[in-house]
Amino acid sequence: MKPKPKRQKSRTLRFPKGFLWGAATSAYQVEGGIANNDWETQVRLPRAGAACDHYNRFEADFKLAKKLNHNAHRLSLEWSRIEPDKGKWDEEALRHYFHVLENLKNQGFTTFVTLHHFTNPVWVAKQGGWAHKKTVDDFADYVGKIAQTLGQFIDFWVTVNEPGIYAYMGYQGGFWPPFAKSILKSFMVYRNMLEGHNRAYKLIHAYYHDAKVGLAQNVSYFRPFHPRSFFDNLEVKVQEFINIDYPYRKTICDFIGLNHYMYRRIHFSLWFWKKQVVRGREAELSDKGWEIYPRAVYEVLLKLKKFGKPIYITENGIADSTDKKRPEFIRGYVKEVYHAIKRGVDVRGYLHWTLLDSYEWPVLKQEKTGYKMQFGLVKVDFKNQKRAVRKSARVYAKICKDNALTL
Ligand code: BGC
Repeated sequence: MKPKPKRQKSRTLRFPKGFLWGAATSAYQVEGGIANNDWETQVRLPRAGAACDHYNRFEADFKLAKKLNHNAHRLSLEWSRIEPDKGKWDEEALRHYFHVLENLKNQGFTTFVTLHHFTNPVWVAKQGGWAHKKTVDDFADYVGKIAQTLGQFIDFWVTVNEPGIYAYMGYQGGFWPPFAKSILKSFMVYRNMLEGHNRAYKLIHAYYHDAKVGLAQNVSYFRPFHPRSFFDNLEVKVQEFINIDYPYRKTICDFIGLNHYMYRRIHFSLWFWKKQVVRGREAELSDKGWEIYPRAVYEVLLKLKKFGKPIYITENGIADSTDKKRPEFIRGYVKEVYHAIKRGVDVRGYLHWTLLDSYEWPVLKQEKTGYKMQFGLVKVDFKNQKRAVRKSARVYAKICKDNALTL
């Protein structure tokens, strides 16, 4: 007689009480109808246009998030709507965001509000964008206005989203507006944005003494392609300095916002005199071609532990139009977050990127549409704006409800 196969016992990984679970979005990617920013007015890349019409459908979308057991939500405010011209405040736009945030609070969500997520009003772009110091002052004025008008609804302030990525993509790689290719400018933009964050930090605290203010930085897990190569190891150190130590030592933060997507094996090639980012050969990839490697988030969280601040995962997600990989992606990454907590990292929330399929920042010469990459827990049919809850959204909803992951 054959021995009976052993039944695997299920195990439940419980998260700390009060852990925040939700999803993140950004204004230009979901709202639709934004006409006056530097993405909608450029002509080299596909634009967002109507996006998911979230500007008009936010109530139904939040209801859906609530049904999916989210208790937190991250969104961004569109600067170009609020201040269409320098010093001119659009009362209707402010009223709109008042209703949006009030709606979230009335439904019991903890709110994460991003003040700058990659887009600028046209007038800011015209004056040289973030390469120009003036923009730091203007950003501070805008933040002051938000603190006065909407601050009461904001639990977590995310001043700027991914300053490092923004500076690189727009000012060094030439992939995003303003399509510049200058290492010097890119560095200035990075520095100015961090200064913008510090200015915002002080301002917000002047209005709200107990405010929780941070920034969302994109941090990948970097490894040397050849573990024994001196140059590969050196390049990893350089990348860690640029992406972790520099921004977090230069800024004052009440919490760390981590956007995590990538595992990068770095090969420094002397031949081309530049680094190359090489993927693992047998790795599973997302539609974007990014490697799925849940352990990466654990490693990054351990690296951030030294700053001694509470950490919120402000973004983590996958482009997966078939939703075949997303359920296990979520379970895998959440499990690693749990292990990081067990190792003493103070992680207090996880916001999945993203609630809805939405506009995805295309890269010059690579992507012909802004809507091919689908990161949503909820599928959107852009012909009629119908929402359809994906299987992964339900898998995630169970984790949110239980405040635990059952293996
Ligand atoms: C950005 C999001 C973007 C996501 C996926 C992050 O870097 O903050 O706006 O959609 O990556 O590419």
